[in-house]
Amino acid sequence: MADIDGSQETKEYYLDVPARNEAFFLKGSGALDWGIQNRLSRIFNPASGKTVMLAIDHGYFQGPTTGLERVDVNIVPLVPYADALMLTRGILRSSIPSSCRNAIVLRASGGPSILKELSNEQIALDMEDAVRLNACAVAVQVFVGGEFETQSIHNLTRLVDAGNRHGVAVLGVTAVGKTLTRDAKYLRLACRICAELGAHIVKTYYCPDGFETVTASCPVPLVMAGGKKLPELDALKMAYNAVEQGASGVDMGRNIFQSDAPAAMIQAVRKVVHEGQKPEHAYDFYQALKHEKKVETPVGR
Ligand code: R5P
Repeated sequence: MADIDGSQETKEYYLDVPARNEAFFLKGSGALDWGIQNRLSRIFNPASGKTVMLAIDHGYFQGPTTGLERVDVNIVPLVPYADALMLTRGILRSSIPSSCRNAIVLRASGGPSILKELSNEQIALDMEDAVRLNACAVAVQVFVGGEFETQSIHNLTRLVDAGNRHGVAVLGVTAVGKTLTRDAKYLRLACRICAELGAHIVKTYYCPDGFETVTASCPVPLVMAGGKKLPELDALKMAYNAVEQGASGVDMGRNIFQSDAPAAMIQAVRKVVHEGQKPEHAYDFYQALKHEKKVETPVGR
């Protein structure tokens, strides 16, 4: 108990200073509870409002994808450059040091392998385990237009209920089946459904025409999925365009860990996402890091 003998009579209430009442920095997230906002602030950098999430969860349906054969060897060195890691609890527990300070986004749906119908996923993680693992968010695949569309949407809504109970955010991942076109019309539909049904973050693919209408009509932060491996400059251009057109960052996998120089690539992606650097500048930075030359960081855009 505090010693009251020496307490002073004079008190300063700062009557002329209004109480702080700042809006939360993320789009559509102002009405969320403190715990979810705090976790979102670990995924998204409050200074830039953006995130560079490293997606390494491919093994949950694809097995040991190229570049992810040995997460302990190939991925752990990249961890310091990511704001958030998106991965399964199996890889987290087995291969990622618990001393890492990244936000953790846990894969929470699964079931079918690439040998089966992919949309037939179920919830694959208890929210209690997500809390035990100190996750900031859980990720669930939503197959709008897929064979098991309704089931996957119910996976989302059940996780949102559990996430809201525990203060853990839910990332709705729009999965595009083989027969569906990744155009703005489809992506608007899929993203909006995720947000309407309670996803706190939505992940979707970039489309060259009308991506800004996808971000504009999604009321919560949207992160761009990387997709198949592209030449590094093209991947940086895609990330740049997505952020310019309203994305709150990226959640990239193969375009980082399948790069010729993954550590250089993720640092170049950071330049684009957090600093708004032009992709050409970020590519120069990538090349210099790749060849281990010291460079001046290009200024601004
Ligand atoms: C989506 O299906 C999963 O989260 C993937 O593992 C992840 O999105 C893939 O990332 P990328 O397409 O950038 O390799």
